[in-house]
Amino acid sequence: MLATPSLFIHHCPRLTVLRSRFYLSLKPFSISSNPSSPFSFFSSFPKTLTQNPSRTLSSLCSAQSECATENTGGRSGALFPPPIAEAVERIDVNPPKGTRDFPPEEMRLRNWLFQNFKEVSQLFGFEEVDFPVLESEALFIRKAGEEIRDQLYCFEDRGNRRVALRPELTPSLARLVIQKGKSVSLPLKWFAVGQCWRYERMTRGRRREHYQWNMDIIGVPDVTAEAELISSIVTFFKRLGITASDVGFKVSSRKVLQDLLRCYSIPDNLFGKVCIIIDKMEKLPLDEIKKDLGSVGISEQAIEELLKVLSIRSLSKLEEVLGAGVEAVADLKKLFSLAEDSGFSEWIQFDASIVRGLAYYTGIVFEGFDREGKLRAICGGGRYDRLLSTFGGDDLPACGFGFGDAVIVELLKEKQLLPDLGLQVENIVCSLDPELHGAAARVATVLRGKGQSVDLVLETKPLKVFKRASRINARRLILVGSSEWQRGMVGVKILSSGEQYEIKLDELDHQPPSSHSETLVGED
Ligand code: HAM
Repeated sequence: MLATPSLFIHHCPRLTVLRSRFYLSLKPFSISSNPSSPFSFFSSFPKTLTQNPSRTLSSLCSAQSECATENTGGRSGALFPPPIAEAVERIDVNPPKGTRDFPPEEMRLRNWLFQNFKEVSQLFGFEEVDFPVLESEALFIRKAGEEIRDQLYCFEDRGNRRVALRPELTPSLARLVIQKGKSVSLPLKWFAVGQCWRYERMTRGRRREHYQWNMDIIGVPDVTAEAELISSIVTFFKRLGITASDVGFKVSSRKVLQDLLRCYSIPDNLFGKVCIIIDKMEKLPLDEIKKDLGSVGISEQAIEELLKVLSIRSLSKLEEVLGAGVEAVADLKKLFSLAEDSGFSEWIQFDASIVRGLAYYTGIVFEGFDREGKLRAICGGGRYDRLLSTFGGDDLPACGFGFGDAVIVELLKEKQLLPDLGLQVENIVCSLDPELHGAAARVATVLRGKGQSVDLVLETKPLKVFKRASRINARRLILVGSSEWQRGMVGVKILSSGEQYEIKLDELDHQPPSSHSETLVGED
């Protein structure tokens, strides 16, 4: 049977010349020297076509696309330059700085990561929520001078409203909790995975756009909530093969700082500002930190005392300095005891210097870090019992964490724990003759109806079907040849073993009839 290219070109009058040239250059070929085997077709097919390398299928496709875009100013095809040369403005094909494209292989990794975020959240009984990426700018403006404020992507919309791309999910969550009011029963256990935007200085694992996994508990004042959150992140790490020797959590409580500030009669409204300054301790020289603390009204003596306490790394030492009855110490002790019960005590350590850079935290704060110290914080969170009232709502006890998608991928690369995520399609279905495409589509429909994935080969001359089958990790190749189809059969090749056989369409899911199995000799 002649494999005709007419399917590609017969609606295009400008291709008449091409069509006749193409017919002249293309030698007719038969499906197979052995018509009983549909597979032998593929061993002869490529050789026939490579005799005419200048007339490839892709050049025909270009010709077809030219027809489709004629008079529309679209991209021109390879065979006929457009009659009038138009100035083409070249665009930068890279995404904006700090943002990412997700081609299929990246998308597979992202989906795998998000799937793990979601499964762990559900394992802990959390419900998924989502919010708009675009929010009112006011939601993210806090007075404490946070870095996040300066990194805001904000603008005025066409209705003269100040809006911003969210830099984090917590304010949106607070907004939704206030909106729901008393209609929801507490405690709420919510999780979300969403894109956040921050105009950051780019470093390893820090981007201008990232996805964040958040888990938040609203309505629980006790540290049992913080313990549950850290336990869920540990569960996530373990699933990915990350151990307590790779990663740890630094834990402290902002109440430590609050107690100290009260000791020195520093007003509560300076608390947020002081936390933001202290959070920069790792990035800025100590003198600068002291200067900043002084400029918000902290005395020299208080600064020295503050820095001394912030250098404490053991809970017993903290207890010695602050006293046993102090709430911060009691909270932390309980958290460490719960960590024992839940089996993650080797993952956490007390570190008084952890205060975190967001103004709204009020109690326990924690940060996930890599023990080799190569990366920025992997995740971070804490208690924020007074955020709702800053938006005009009634305060509710709340805590949660944010976990970015970028640092964890860097860590997985470091530890060689990135999964091998090839595309997997169960079946690739291919017709041996353009006229049998409908039959192949029918086979695909039957299989998809049974819940099996099918890559239906759409090209009328499938040159590279075996290569493609291997690229997409197909389990089996189903070939629809005319003589088999007339008998209600299709050819099957199991790609892992090379086993091949013919089988009735409605028996495709059955075991191969062993008497029909044969080994394939030639492939493309
Ligand atoms: P955050 O510490 O600002 O907290 O961010 C949490 C995590 O998001 C970071 O530890 C990091 O993994 C990731 N992340 C942040 N900024 C970037 C960036 N520019 N590029 C890549 N990854 C980034 C919050 O956002 C809080 N709202 C978390 C929270 C939820 N607290 C309570 N509930």
